[in-house]
Amino acid sequence: MNRKIALITGANKGIGLEMARQLGQENITVLVGARDLAKGKEAVKTLRGEGIDARPIEIDVTKGESIRKAAKDVEREFGRLDILINNAGVLLDDQKRKVSEQPLETWRRTFDTNFFGLIETTQTFLPLLKKSDAGRIVNLSSILGSITLHSDPGSPIYDFKAASYNVSKSAVNAYTVQLAYELKGTNVKVNAAHPGWVKTDLGGEGAQMEVTDGAKTGVALATIGEDGPNGAYIHEGKPLPW
Ligand SMILES: NC(=O)c1ccc[n+]([C@@H]2O[C@H](COP(=O)([O-])OP(=O)(O)OC[C@H]3O[C@@H](n4cnc5c(N)ncnc54)[C@H](OP(=O)(O)O)[C@@H]3O)[C@@H](O)[C@H]2O)c1
Repeated sequence: MNRKIALITGANKGIGLEMARQLGQENITVLVGARDLAKGKEAVKTLRGEGIDARPIEIDVTKGESIRKAAKDVEREFGRLDILINNAGVLLDDQKRKVSEQPLETWRRTFDTNFFGLIETTQTFLPLLKKSDAGRIVNLSSILGSITLHSDPGSPIYDFKAASYNVSKSAVNAYTVQLAYELKGTNVKVNAAHPGWVKTDLGGEGAQMEVTDGAKTGVALATIGEDGPNGAYIHEGKPLPW
């Protein structure tokens, strides 16, 4: 009964699945969020085979009804939530187009998942996180959300202008700071994580990091203690410039 309960959106593959694995290895019950329940069940089968207490949960972060149903299910089953990892994300920019030429449709679809989906999921689950002794929210951001680094011609990301994705992650960072203000002095903390450039479908084959390492920043922020940060933007334990 005392096991912590974690929900990870988009956990059927990639960094989300690996964070589920690593949290499960810490004896946390993991709710494997997937917009396609069949994929969620498949991932859970793998995790359970490794001795992890994983359960599938259908959640499409662009659909309010789906988020609310998931929250009702979690409330009925557990009465609270200890960890929410807003991991679901998309990178839809056509890299061959200039910033000014990304279609508005791309901006809208990107923001629907990466930003508005994250906000609606957070708002819907916050009452359950407040019922935890130590609620933790981790927003999967990216170094590509750093406005400081995007403005610096000497930075390694300077030339990577996937505009709608990058700006959606800057918005995630800004939201994290706003929400952290509201949560200070409560049992709930919220932080933004940059996982690294990780070999996943989204990160691509050129990525430098294995998924095992890419999951570590998110897992660390999901399990911080009372003395941990609130409203920070972190990669491997160190703050990134906003
Ligand atoms: N990989 C990197 O190098 C990197 C770097 C910085 C930040 N990140 C961030 O890390 C997070 C995870 O990325 P990843 O590399 O693991 O990507 P990934 O392998 O492409 O996985 C993305 C996950 O998000 C899910 N998803 C997409 N839209 C969704 C929606 N509307 N509702 C629910 N789930 C949805 C996908 O589900 P389906 O399987 O159904 O598509 C999938 O499970 C993202 O937020 C990403 O921006 C990644």
